[in-house]
Amino acid sequence: MNDKFLIDKTKEILKTYNLSPDKHPPKLSKEEATKIVDTLRELINYHDYRYYVLNQPVISDSEYDALYKFLKNIEETYPDLITPDSPTQRVSSDISSTFPQVKHLAPMLSLDNTYNEEDLRDFDRRVKELSGKDHIEYCVEPKYDGAGISLLYENDIFVRGATRGDGEVGEDITKNLKTIKTIPLRASFSKQGMRLLEIRGEVIINKEDFKKINEERISENLPPYANPRNLAAGSIRLQDPQEVAKRPLTALVYQITYVEPSTAMPKTHYEAIKMLHEMGFKTPFLDMKLCKNIEEVIDYCKYFEAKRDSLPYEIDGMVIKVNDISLYDELGFTSHAPRWATAFKFKAKQATTVILDVVFSVGRVGNITPVAKLEPVSLGGVTISSVSLFNEDFIREKDIHIKDTVIIERAGEVIPYVVSVVKEARPKDAKPIVFPEYCPSCGSKLVKAPGEVAWRCVNISCPAQVVLRIRHFASKDAMDIKGLGEAVAQLLYDAKLVKNIADLYYLKFSDLVRLPRFAKKSAQNLIEAIEASKRRGLARVLYGLGIRYVGLTTAKKLASYYKDIWNIVKASEEDLRNIEDIGDVVARSIKEFFSLEQNTNIIKRLEDAGVLLKEVSEAKSNKLAGLQFVFTGTLSCCTREVAKQMVESLGASTSDSVSHHTSYLVVGQDPGATKLRKATMLGVKTINEEEFLKLLEESK
Ligand code: IVH
Repeated sequence: MNDKFLIDKTKEILKTYNLSPDKHPPKLSKEEATKIVDTLRELINYHDYRYYVLNQPVISDSEYDALYKFLKNIEETYPDLITPDSPTQRVSSDISSTFPQVKHLAPMLSLDNTYNEEDLRDFDRRVKELSGKDHIEYCVEPKYDGAGISLLYENDIFVRGATRGDGEVGEDITKNLKTIKTIPLRASFSKQGMRLLEIRGEVIINKEDFKKINEERISENLPPYANPRNLAAGSIRLQDPQEVAKRPLTALVYQITYVEPSTAMPKTHYEAIKMLHEMGFKTPFLDMKLCKNIEEVIDYCKYFEAKRDSLPYEIDGMVIKVNDISLYDELGFTSHAPRWATAFKFKAKQATTVILDVVFSVGRVGNITPVAKLEPVSLGGVTISSVSLFNEDFIREKDIHIKDTVIIERAGEVIPYVVSVVKEARPKDAKPIVFPEYCPSCGSKLVKAPGEVAWRCVNISCPAQVVLRIRHFASKDAMDIKGLGEAVAQLLYDAKLVKNIADLYYLKFSDLVRLPRFAKKSAQNLIEAIEASKRRGLARVLYGLGIRYVGLTTAKKLASYYKDIWNIVKASEEDLRNIEDIGDVVARSIKEFFSLEQNTNIIKRLEDAGVLLKEVSEAKSNKLAGLQFVFTGTLSCCTREVAKQMVESLGASTSDSVSHHTSYLVVGQDPGATKLRKATMLGVKTINEEEFLKLLEESK
């Protein structure tokens, strides 16, 4: 049915039955109800699609609410008319039986959305009308794209943390939230005269961390997570708090929803956030702007949208809140959102397109990945013409056919992926996707191990795999051989100079200069880069070997336990299982790899060529491993060089400029304005000399 028909029908029903969200809908006879109920469901589904998928609603929220209320009322009056697929039967809660349920003190609502300047001006007009004020100040802050949480503090102690649940009742995830370092376990609310306090916030995962986790998963042959939001939501609901603690979660708080005694409630939202910020919560304070009028709001939303991609975390819009909290009661709520706040949504990062064809690619360890070729579509400023369909199970679960119209999504650093199929749009000649039986590269029969999702080509000499293995071995986290990307790997393979990774160390300058793409200089550079890679040490060699399920983390654990590659070659499956985080599947995969003579031969040839196959201790301690420090201003304890050496000896890295990779900006006397501004912009934590020395002390 076309849009016009559905929109006209909606208007007709609203008018005929005189529907409004604030009024009781009319009581219908059974006969009349039966006649209209299916149409109502169809209309609500259509408006859900316009709203959630296309981000293009065609009716107002109150019209939608009125329609929904009408359907709900009919179903309550005539329960036998309820169908399991009615929109009223959607489970809008993430409650599982495993966490105790807790009632929120104030309901956890969502926000109304605006999409353009006019919507924002309408919002401003409504606020002014309802409050009777001519001038309204607003706070504008980022809308974080994560998992909503509710925190309860009683007598200064963090006593309870909960998920949103159905908005009224959530799940008690206190133990999990306590593992998140940005949630203070104690905060000095009593000094502000507050005994009991409910605060709302969001758990998020930085884009960089998300990317790393997914790279690791891909290298371990696991399907990547869809987006940081899903990973954050999944992480806070894990059953084991120890596991939660390992995830790089950040919690921000952005709203006080309940205070006892109520007289202690801050007067403005700005003051509330400032207070939380000063108490040590992570808040939007530094990114928030207090705007005198709606035009300033609009400017700030635009300004922030422009820098959206440079932020270290995902945001999907801005939230605009009336600053004066005393107006909240007067403005009140609709059925699902406060009238004193609204969200300004950025351009959608979802799009619909058509699957033209599906091809199958061979991965580094022989996995066959289906890749959908798409009708090119623009998504968040990038043209997308293909997406991975991951594996056969993914295709079956989503029931994807060739010629299907699909909804694709791209969030930040995330690879685009298919969210769902628009089944209604499936043409008659749509074709199911047939998985190949033979490898598209070498033609050998594909196999699938019981319990695994991927079909694999097990021919170790399969050309597609060899080239990818070489590229992986040379990649940054492995041996970091500059200038050896996929194209060069392919060239070396085609010229029959390199058939496996060990051959790299036997390449001669004279071999390279003969090749079409190499001049003297580039040939010399590659020989030098290969030579330099010999000292990277055991962990990186192990990772570079591309053993299934052995990502960088596992490789590091193996290296620090066994010290020498030959100890790993000799280790039994049982020995391997003794190492933290190495289970049956990983142990078996490692054992399988080193049981193959071709593979141990490669190790011997690497050793003969002088590649270091022992662990290198990069630092005296690694307490600060993975962190990056930047210094600005003069420190009184020591020179900047000495400070750098101190953090490096604890495993951290240093840099002269602030970026997304920076963990801490250490601020001394007379700091540089640029570094400070950049740190604020990117949300990098700044610490003073005292905090820095404390951190060092704790890390020793
Ligand atoms: S205020 C009563 N502020 O967006 C008002 N929400 O679509 C409570 N969100 O459920 C919400 N950033 O999970 C607020 N700065 C922010 C936010 C924010 C993200 C989430 C929140 C909410 C959802 C609404």
